[in-house]
Amino acid sequence: MCGIVGYIGAKNCVHILIDGLKKLEYRGYDSAGIGIINDNYCDVIKTKGKVSDLEKMLTGKNFTAGLGIGHTRWATHGEPNMVNAHPHLNKERNLFLVHNGIIENYSSLKKGLQKEGYNFLSETDTEVLVNLIDRYLKKKHNLGTAVRYALNEVEGTYGIAVIYKNEPDKIIVARKGSPLVLGVGVNENFIASDVNALISHTSQVVYLEDNEILEIYSDHFVAKNISDKEIIKEIHEVDIAIDEISKGGYAHFMLKEIMEQPESIYNSMRGRLLPEEGTSKLGGLQGFEDRIAHSDRILISACGTSWHAGLVGEYMLEQYAGIPVEVEYASEFRYRHPVINSNDTVIFISQSGETADTLASLREAKKKGALCLGICNVVGSSIARESDTGVYIHAGPEIGVASTKAFTSQLVVLALITMLISREKRLSVTDGQYLINEMKKLPRNVEKILKMNDTIEKIADKYVNAKNFLYLGRGYNFPVALEGALKLKEISYIHAEGYPAAEMKHGPIALIDENMPVVFIATKDSVYDKVMSNIEEVRARKGKIIAIANEADDQIDKIVDHAIKIPQTADMLTPILSVIPLQLLAYHIAVKKGLNVDQPRNLAKSVTVE
Ligand code: F6R
Repeated sequence: MCGIVGYIGAKNCVHILIDGLKKLEYRGYDSAGIGIINDNYCDVIKTKGKVSDLEKMLTGKNFTAGLGIGHTRWATHGEPNMVNAHPHLNKERNLFLVHNGIIENYSSLKKGLQKEGYNFLSETDTEVLVNLIDRYLKKKHNLGTAVRYALNEVEGTYGIAVIYKNEPDKIIVARKGSPLVLGVGVNENFIASDVNALISHTSQVVYLEDNEILEIYSDHFVAKNISDKEIIKEIHEVDIAIDEISKGGYAHFMLKEIMEQPESIYNSMRGRLLPEEGTSKLGGLQGFEDRIAHSDRILISACGTSWHAGLVGEYMLEQYAGIPVEVEYASEFRYRHPVINSNDTVIFISQSGETADTLASLREAKKKGALCLGICNVVGSSIARESDTGVYIHAGPEIGVASTKAFTSQLVVLALITMLISREKRLSVTDGQYLINEMKKLPRNVEKILKMNDTIEKIADKYVNAKNFLYLGRGYNFPVALEGALKLKEISYIHAEGYPAAEMKHGPIALIDENMPVVFIATKDSVYDKVMSNIEEVRARKGKIIAIANEADDQIDKIVDHAIKIPQTADMLTPILSVIPLQLLAYHIAVKKGLNVDQPRNLAKSVTVE
């Protein structure tokens, strides 16, 4: 999704902006641009395409400036082209603005401005905002006041950065619904929509909250709310190493992140297991354990892959905590007036912690008095900050658009929460100790699966030209089937469906013929025999079968085309292992099709619009 960077200080900002935009590339975008100001000139350079295209346009120009903003755009209003790219500017070409989010009332604002003589070049909602600010500047307000007055007229969401040739000592940034962070340097300051773009310069950051405006100078900043009241902002120290956001020798971030799972899974449980008591401890939930354990209901709200993690969480929590659980798409939850009571706990799962729908559903649940628990990866993200309580998954930065290591770490955290609140319910000490033993084995078991990378690549070879795929699983592996199908479709653009295996005969079985690859997740769990019957049904119709099965299962080899063998573990933990071959399968198919797996078309890493 769109990305923002900015710089003010004594250095040449051009390289800093380009470097920052490159760090945001993983979020997905279709055009890029920068706006720079120095004593003698100001300019905007923008283009459709990649940051590397923008860089080419800058070659030989020797621009130098100590003040600048940059943007990667993911089209919402108007197609991806140079005119619609940001920064947007006023007619005099001395006021530049970059914007993430959506101005919902842009069309009425535009009409008003047109009546006053403003012309519009682009189809974007953002151009309205730059002209609205210009209008207040022309009424002799300073930049800070002009931005504030303009924002007071705006409905919708925004993260903005604005610079003005006539006030070259500052960047104004403001946030409502779209993340922004200030990086505090020594006699220089940085801004970005994502902390990853800043950490090579500083580890001192200030997170903007909704309805806050910051005036950023090179040596200080002033924070106010939208009503012009000064506020004190805390400076946080971020703890991300630079090598965590590089590819580390792998061809793609996605592969690196798949391969990192032994470590990321370990990090998610590190220091959180209590082997003797057969349970877990989670610092973030301290003081809330009883309230969660005695909730009337647990609701889980999330999107995409995180929603799939939520489905696994539902199975875990109902099995061991015995509390009714409902899993909702956050986008439905926020608008359908759900029944939420003050004795409910609502869990919000989000890797980025910024997904607009999940954040809105959190605010809705909070209004209704439920206990809101966030499970996030990005430290200091909006969902993490706005939840009443929460647990970080500690998977490390996930850059590839397709979520992999965050999913397995979300499952680890859901397992830890399940153990924490189930002791007085259905989880005996012995059962808890068994689960802990199996959790400790997870990193080693994942390593074993990753060693099958070459075998999985060979299987991928055979299916590169498939037009459709079916993924089937039951019980704990049903959400894994959904996740396997999502991974394949988002990066390989092959149509894929995930289904509960038994549901196949109620419709999808009609699709099966010798051209249909069917992936079964058929581990030795409580529904194994039933899945075997479903495999026979597909086999009878000549479907091609790829099975994820357990190491000790010799029978399955006789009835499937390919068997990928994984270690056996507790049923509840199986998805953490069974999803890994599916991540690799999707990855290899997409690479063999020559596709950009880290930035698949139309997708964004952090979906901050509805
Ligand atoms: C798929 C994927 C998305 C995200 C979804 C929610 O690989 O990554 O489906 O899971 O956009 O994102 P978060 O978890 O950041 O709320």
